[in-house]
Amino acid sequence: MSKIVLITGGASGIGAATARLLAGHGHDIAINYRTRERQARSLAEELEERGVRAITVQADVAQPADIERLYREVDERLGAVDAVVNSAGIGAGPTRVDEADAEALERLFRTNVLGVILSSREAVRRMSTARGGKGGVIINISSMAATIGGRPGASFYAASKGAVDAFTVGLAKEVAREGIRAVSVRPGFTLTEMTTTYATDPKLLEYIASTIPMGRPGLVEEVARPIVWLLSDEASFITGSLFDVSGGGFRLG
Ligand SMILES: NC(=O)c1ccc[n+]([C@@H]2O[C@H](COP(=O)([O-])OP(=O)(O)OC[C@H]3O[C@@H](n4cnc5c(N)ncnc54)[C@H](OP(=O)(O)O)[C@@H]3O)[C@@H](O)[C@H]2O)c1
Repeated sequence: MSKIVLITGGASGIGAATARLLAGHGHDIAINYRTRERQARSLAEELEERGVRAITVQADVAQPADIERLYREVDERLGAVDAVVNSAGIGAGPTRVDEADAEALERLFRTNVLGVILSSREAVRRMSTARGGKGGVIINISSMAATIGGRPGASFYAASKGAVDAFTVGLAKEVAREGIRAVSVRPGFTLTEMTTTYATDPKLLEYIASTIPMGRPGLVEEVARPIVWLLSDEASFITGSLFDVSGGGFRLG
């Protein structure tokens, strides 16, 4: 059955790859973007050519009022969401703790943590059977960084994703009897715009690949496919899981 899926940060990377696969399954897509209007519009056109409804909505998930407006716009233009993929996120650093900048930290946590929590709040308000909704699925994009405290200089980013994991486990328990599943998906190093700096430096890329048991970075489709499966009824007994998509995590020694 066709669903309405909102993807935050959906104009690029993992979010855009997920949108493409979901449209292939006949689902209607709301693409949230912050600055990437052109990318978002061109993706929406591509999805509509596949016969689904696709809209774009500008909103900064670090701003609570923007998140409320985002969901209201989706309600009005597509209908209440059946599923949400919280993919919007930013990296940080590399920065050691003695160089931490309070403003940058605030931006990081407002985007990666507050954004995920408030987007989940809006989703639950619409999906919960206790509130008259039909149930649904929330996928929060975390990171394998949460499992090791981040690569050197990425402890703040890791902490933000650790918060996403803890929140998702608690959220899943709160709403498990209200028809809502919530899962944290933890990608390992994946080639996207977020990792371009690494990917364009062959030596650095080779080093990172060497730290991954499978010996290579992931591709966006390899992360998007399990997300699409987790969103489907095939995954009907999966909630509160921390789902690693990482080529085996980190190679020690
Ligand atoms: N690539 C990896 O190796 C990797 C590994 C683990 C986890 N992740 C996570 O995967 C998610 C997707 O990242 P990606 O790798 O696909 O990189 P990406 O292509 O940079 O995607 C991130 C998207 O989030 C958007 N975004 C950032 N801040 C936002 C805000 N405040 N409001 C709305 N949208 C915002 C960005 O748009 P703007 O540029 O316009 O802000 C961008 O389109 C992130 O949560 C990231 O932390 C990535």
